Amino acid sequence: MHNIYNQRAQCSDAIYRPVNPIRLVRHAKGAPGLRWLGLGPNLNPSRALLKLQRLFDRHAIWARGRSFAQLRRLLAGSDAVVSLWRGKRLVGFGRATSDGFSRAVLWDIVVAGDLQGHGLGRRVIEELLHTPPVVGVERVYLMTTKSAGFYRQLGFQDANPQQLMVLRR
Ligand SMILES: CC(C)(COP(=O)(O)OP(=O)(O)OC[C@H]1O[C@@H](n2cnc3c(N)ncnc32)[C@H](O)[C@@H]1OP(=O)(O)O)[C@@H](O)C(=O)NCCC(=O)NCCS
Repeated sequence: MHNIYNQRAQCSDAIYRPVNPIRLVRHAKGAPGLRWLGLGPNLNPSRALLKLQRLFDRHAIWARGRSFAQLRRLLAGSDAVVSLWRGKRLVGFGRATSDGFSRAVLWDIVVAGDLQGHGLGRRVIEELLHTPPVVGVERVYLMTTKSAGFYRQLGFQDANPQQLMVLRR
């Protein structure tokens, strides 16, 4: 009997446990709260810089091994910053730089691996595109190696015949 009651308790717990909704945070220019105080949703202290470092380390191969100082620098240089939270967990991120009317560039778009394919990346992009620094600009650029299909779904086009050039340092 004891086991049956336990099983029922576990079962009902599994059925009725509320699922944490995904919360989107649109940060201020340069994300000062995230940058200096690790603030997350509702401006609550959330160790957000550490969580951003872990999100990058695990899911963004181009941004692995960033120090706190480097993360603060890239946030400070961002005109728009968006993060996605599930409870206390940082599950998505994106940022943009922009001159406000002519050109903007999206950077560091990432969703936690176990939550990819559920529309979260789309939410990050759509929110960034609607932020004041980005919403009115003539062209929005981004660089991607494996996710062009994702961006095509969102209206981005291949930039041919333009060519991406890089000065490596
Ligand atoms: C790329 C990434 C941000 C997409 O986020 P996501 O939450 O998985 O994407 P979504 O669920 O919002 O997908 C939106 C649409 O794009 C499609 N899509 C997603 N990834 C795709 C891909 N790599 N190729 C083609 N289509 C893709 C989805 O099927 C979905 O289409 P639908 O609306 O018809 O169902 C995410 O997979 C990720 O973080 N990848 C690792 C880091 C990375 O490569 N970032 C991009 C750097 S430029």
